[in-house]
Amino acid sequence: MRLALRFILPLLVVLGLVSWMFAPLAGDLIEGWLRADVEERSQLVFASIADTVAGLAGATTDQAADHTIDLLFQRISQDKRLLALALCTTDGRLTHRSAEWPRSLGCPPAPEGVPEFSIEHLTGGPVLVSAFAISAAGRPMGSLVILHDLSFIHRRGARIEGYLAGFLAVLAIAAAAVTALVARLTLRRWLSSVRRGLSVACESEDGEAGMAPEVVPMVREMRKMLRDLDLSTALAEEARSGWTADRLRGLLRSKLPEADLLVVSNREPYIHNLQGSHVVLQRPASGLVTALEPIMQACGGTWVAHGSGTADRMTADDGDHLPVPPDAPSYTLRRLWLSDEEQDGYYYGFANEGLWPLCHIAFVRPTFRASDWEQYVAVNRKFADAVVAEARMPNPVVLVQDYHFALLPRMIRERLPDATIVTFWHIPWPNPEMFSICPWKEEILNGLLGSSILGFHTQFHCINFLASVDRFLECHIDREHSTIGTCGGTTLIRPYPISIEWPPAAMAGQVPVAECRESVRRGFHLSPEIRLAVGVERFDYTKGIADRFRAVESLLETHPEWLGRFTLLQVAAPTRGRLAAYHATQEEAEAVAEAINLRFGRDGWQPIILVAKHHEPAEVFALLRAADLCLVSSLHDGMNLVAKEFVAARDDEDGVLVLSTFAGASRELLEGLIVNPYDIAGMAEAIHRGLSMPADQRRERMKLMREMVKEHNIYFWAGRMLMDAARMRKRRHIERQFAKVPQQSPTLHSGKGHARLRAVAD
Ligand code: G6P
Repeated sequence: MRLALRFILPLLVVLGLVSWMFAPLAGDLIEGWLRADVEERSQLVFASIADTVAGLAGATTDQAADHTIDLLFQRISQDKRLLALALCTTDGRLTHRSAEWPRSLGCPPAPEGVPEFSIEHLTGGPVLVSAFAISAAGRPMGSLVILHDLSFIHRRGARIEGYLAGFLAVLAIAAAAVTALVARLTLRRWLSSVRRGLSVACESEDGEAGMAPEVVPMVREMRKMLRDLDLSTALAEEARSGWTADRLRGLLRSKLPEADLLVVSNREPYIHNLQGSHVVLQRPASGLVTALEPIMQACGGTWVAHGSGTADRMTADDGDHLPVPPDAPSYTLRRLWLSDEEQDGYYYGFANEGLWPLCHIAFVRPTFRASDWEQYVAVNRKFADAVVAEARMPNPVVLVQDYHFALLPRMIRERLPDATIVTFWHIPWPNPEMFSICPWKEEILNGLLGSSILGFHTQFHCINFLASVDRFLECHIDREHSTIGTCGGTTLIRPYPISIEWPPAAMAGQVPVAECRESVRRGFHLSPEIRLAVGVERFDYTKGIADRFRAVESLLETHPEWLGRFTLLQVAAPTRGRLAAYHATQEEAEAVAEAINLRFGRDGWQPIILVAKHHEPAEVFALLRAADLCLVSSLHDGMNLVAKEFVAARDDEDGVLVLSTFAGASRELLEGLIVNPYDIAGMAEAIHRGLSMPADQRRERMKLMREMVKEHNIYFWAGRMLMDAARMRKRRHIERQFAKVPQQSPTLHSGKGHARLRAVAD
């Protein structure tokens, strides 16, 4: 209907304008015709009486003749249109006139031969005055004047104009209706052609037969657009929601068919330790393990890791393999053994005294020793050997994890050029100034650029990495696509914020929150009305444990109403115990807690309970469920999965998260109370705000955070990376098939200044 109106209205307006302009012209034309008609009538009347009048007028003295003329005039003027007649002498004197002759009208000038016509406007309307010369026996006698009423011409002209305008309007409507109908029919034909073209043969040109020829190019264009749209919608959909273990498994099967999946990390997911004569299974306190374990359970494959447990050798087979999880095996753990010397140089030395403080801004000075670097290179090579040995195909998908293996991607690439290597850096990446202090910076960057994809938690870390490469290597950086090209290939640099499984396995078997609260309070001898904050981490200087204790102290100073009513329960697993900085961190935290407890503790109540002990995932979840508040005050953290675990643990949609702005998680969990851990008073205020927050606001915030973690879970993390990997693999395959590009393999060189890459034809 709207279409019809849009079409018909302008047509009507145009036709209206045409009639407005042309109807008066038509009226004038018809008036002209009618007047000519009346003039002809005058001439006819004149011709029929001219001789008689001339004869009678000749006898001017004869009264009978005069009377006859009057009678003749009277009779002729009976005609409806003929108004009056008169006879004028040559000198313009009126001698005879019919009764209706207007008194105001005199004789017109006598015509000379040809009749003269003029129009007089009298009170009754316009009158045609026709003057004819009369003569008798060749002698001019005067003129015969005939008056004709012309008012009818005006009346008729106006009526004709009206008819004409009406006719044009009807014509316009009819034309518009016909045009609209034709347009509609044509559109319908077009649409059915387009529809058929799009639905019948989206992939081929077959559907074009029988299609309106004028729509064929349009259909082709639309097909292309639809295909693109379809693809991007599918990808967007795929990338967004509903990620589960099953879906990830399906993705792997469809996008990376028969992919040989290998994971490499330093920390193993299952550690067997000897306790007396018993073998005890331990799950390590590692965000990396928390995140990757569900993926391996979903997808299967082989996980290569350092066997660090005292009973690890005796629980693995001769090839150092072990099916895990022990109670329901779904993938293989391949353990790799390191000597104490290797462990000291590679793990404690270069990784944890060099790279760890280099990448975290926690004001602990990095230590770089050449002997540690040598071990780091050697252990990376050892893991590369293991990956090559475990790979069942020349093109496995290898997921390299973390700062322990900066050199590994390049080493694998050299040995398995067709491998898809996805490296994930679980900790922050520093800015180029910070990074520049590392004596082996070029080797580290080159090593990482052996990856097909290099992932960080945040865009900020990606930018820092690109800036570091830009500063220290010669290569091609494509900032639009976020890729780095070396002669060894191209690496995609992307943020993939890591997460946890949803729902977490540790939630299975949890008692309701109310019971959790009760049993945790009972376990730690806390009265039921105590408001409880919980902190869970490794005893690492990056976690800001002492700082949060100081915030508790500040809270009790500024808000004494919490004295005796609030406790922070901090569980911290001792970690990297051979390193002085870690000893110092634990000692400092214990001393600060003790001092605060001494200062404020009373009647069996103490503000801080510090438990320096490893807790298994189910125990951690029970604590998180029992808490009113979770405190994450990292001085710097790649992501911090405890924050996400707290959110996942709260199926009662209650609890407040106090979260450091320097943890990657603060980019996603925006409804937490975001704090600067260096601002002790600010952190104390945030704790007070969290404890005083009304229930509905707590619920609102928790709901939003739960939606976020549920949607962006660990399957989403892995899914996005694997989809990118699948696309790269396909592109590489196409390049090889059609472009016949020779494959090149680079070799790592330690160099002064810029790194040199040797290209080796495949
Ligand atoms: C961080 C690292 C992980 C590491 C974990 C535990 O989360 O990113 O790679 O496994 O700390 O540290 P640890 O040295 O005990 O493995």
